[in-house]
Amino acid sequence: MVTIDISYAQRMQGLSGSAIRELFAFSAKPGVISFAGGNPGSFALPDEQVAQIASDLLRRDGKAILQYGQTEGYPPLRQSLPGYIRQTFGADVQEDQVLITTGSMQGLDLLLKALVNPGDAVLTESPAFLGALQAMNSYQANIVPVRSDDSGIDIAHLEEMMRRHSPKLLYIIPTFQNPTGCSLALDRRQQVAELAAKYRVVVAEDDPYHSLRYKGKHLPAIKAFDREGWVVLLGSFSKVVSPGLRVGFMAGDAHLLRRCGVCKQCTDVHTANLNQGIVDAYLRGGLLDPHISRICGQYAGLMDTMLQQLALTPRIRHFTRPEGGLFIFVHLEEGLQADQLFRSAVERGVAFVPGEHFYPEGGHHNTLRLNFSNADQAAILRGMEILSDCIKHMG
Ligand SMILES: Cc1ncc(COP(=O)(O)O)c(C=O)c1O
Repeated sequence: MVTIDISYAQRMQGLSGSAIRELFAFSAKPGVISFAGGNPGSFALPDEQVAQIASDLLRRDGKAILQYGQTEGYPPLRQSLPGYIRQTFGADVQEDQVLITTGSMQGLDLLLKALVNPGDAVLTESPAFLGALQAMNSYQANIVPVRSDDSGIDIAHLEEMMRRHSPKLLYIIPTFQNPTGCSLALDRRQQVAELAAKYRVVVAEDDPYHSLRYKGKHLPAIKAFDREGWVVLLGSFSKVVSPGLRVGFMAGDAHLLRRCGVCKQCTDVHTANLNQGIVDAYLRGGLLDPHISRICGQYAGLMDTMLQQLALTPRIRHFTRPEGGLFIFVHLEEGLQADQLFRSAVERGVAFVPGEHFYPEGGHHNTLRLNFSNADQAAILRGMEILSDCIKHMG
């Protein structure tokens, strides 16, 4: 193939992604045991139920669904969301404080588009979701990492970074974080909301794993502590219904969301009506809770198996013990290199993501992210056995 010499925009400079793309391409090969992705397990995708709902919807409201819709969202879903948000996240929002998005990833993109000029500081907990870091890079943000531990973002460091950098935005994943699986402690949730108001920083609270809880007590979102409107909750139905439907939402200040709506108009006009209608049917029909209970039961078993195997794995300094979500984060003994482990594991048909990719400041070469939702019990046992053997033989 001939490579043509195209002059790309400067915003593309920070975007490489090639190593990760290769990694995911390898993980998708038949026979590979993949602990690399973040996809729901195929048992968690309710295809039969969605087929029935889609056909009913088209029969009932087909002309409206197949027509252009409103940027803010399909009206029935917009009406059901405030109740869902109150019940699930403990936050009170009105209909005009909700903007339906094409996945929660779009919510972050719209916030960055509306708020961030090249060079503006954006704070993020570190490590953080790679897709979010790529989005910040694409707006040429000055990404400022904030330390975190197994109880989430370090509040003292957060305040110091807010004072020092006057950021436009804080990006944070409070529940069953990607990549660590850890959750932000209750008192820190309140403190994040208070700091946002004190330093006038918009918070992008990205919470797609909130309902995938297998143990422990439900925690209210940071948004539940937001008195002034600085927090925008980014929600998603990707992990609880289907990522392929691409339905998420933003819940926050009505004026800010109107500005984000203007940005959405010139991005995709609106999120697909049919997909929004399907999600609405889950909410109105009481279908979501039983579905989530069913998948959580299965995910819990997979996570426990992986945690038990990790406890038996040599040369590990620390691994997280999540109460939900899809990921476990591992720190190998200091000096061991996760990319070396990756190469030997891949040769034996096991994939994961080396943790360094999740740290905007780089380093942390001894870390890795493991996902447990895309393998069955037998594959987890086999994959962890291979991984353990590879670690044992690392130089
Ligand atoms: C933290 C986080 N935010 C957002 C997303 C993407 O969500 P959506 O499919 O709703 O765009 C993911 C997917 O892996 C994620 O881990």
